[in-house]
Amino acid sequence: MQKLFPSAPATGTPMAATNASAEARSFLALRRSSSKRLLAEPGPDQDQVSQLLYVAARVSDHRRLSPWRFEVFQGAAREHFNLAAQEILKAEKPDASAQELSDAAGLFNRAPTIVIVISSPDTTHKTPVWEQELSAGAVCHNLLLSANAAGWAGCWLTEWVSYSAGISAWLGLSESERVAGMIYLGTASSPPQERMRPDVKAITTFR
Ligand SMILES: Cc1cc2nc3c(=O)[nH]c(=O)nc-3n(C[C@H](O)[C@H](O)[C@H](O)COP(=O)(O)O)c2cc1C
Repeated sequence: MQKLFPSAPATGTPMAATNASAEARSFLALRRSSSKRLLAEPGPDQDQVSQLLYVAARVSDHRRLSPWRFEVFQGAAREHFNLAAQEILKAEKPDASAQELSDAAGLFNRAPTIVIVISSPDTTHKTPVWEQELSAGAVCHNLLLSANAAGWAGCWLTEWVSYSAGISAWLGLSESERVAGMIYLGTASSPPQERMRPDVKAITTFR
C-alpha cells in the first residue's frame, strides 16, 4: 500500500498552527477543476480513495458531529447507478428526450471513481443544520484538494441526480440527508484552462 499522506498524530499531540509552504500556496492559488468530459483512467483505487477520504474528512466540524458520509462508485458499480438513473429519469420525467435518457445512462461513465458526499446532519443537535451542511461542502472541496495533491484530477458536480427523490431513495438517503456533491475523480485527458475569476475586491468590505 502506497502511503499518500502522513498519518494524523494521536489526539492531544501538540500541532503546528501553520504549515507555511510556497508549494502549498502555489497549489491553492492555481487549483482548477477538470472538465467532466475529460476524466479518464486511472482513478484512485479503493485503498487510495480511503486515504483521500481520511484527509478530506479533516474539515471544520462544529462540535465534532461528522455530519457527512460517503458512497463510492467504481468499476461495475457505476453501471448499477447508470441503469438506476435512466429508470428514475424515465419515471420522474416522462417526456425526457432520447438524448436525456442516454446521458443518464452514461453519467458515471464519465470518471473511473465517483464519490458521493452525503450531508447527514443530526437535526436534533444544537449545532444548526446549516452549519452541518456547510461542513459537508467543506468535505467536498477538501476531497478535491486532497485528490489534486495526490495526483488525480476531479470536479464537483450535482446535476439533476443530486436533487432527484428517486435517486435519493435509491441511495438510501434519510429524510434529512442530501447529496452535497458527486466528486468525479480520475486523470485529466487534457489540461484545463484558467477561467474568469471573481472580482474579490468588489465583494469585500474592510471595516
Ligand atoms: C455545489 C456545487 C455544485 C456544482 N455542480 C456542478 C454541475 O452540476 N455541473 C457543472 O458543470 N459544474 C458544477 N459545479 C462547478 C464545478 O465544480 C467547478 O467549480 C466549476 O466548473 C469551476 O471550476 P473551478 O472549480 O476550477 O473554479 C458545481 C460546484 C459546486 C460548488
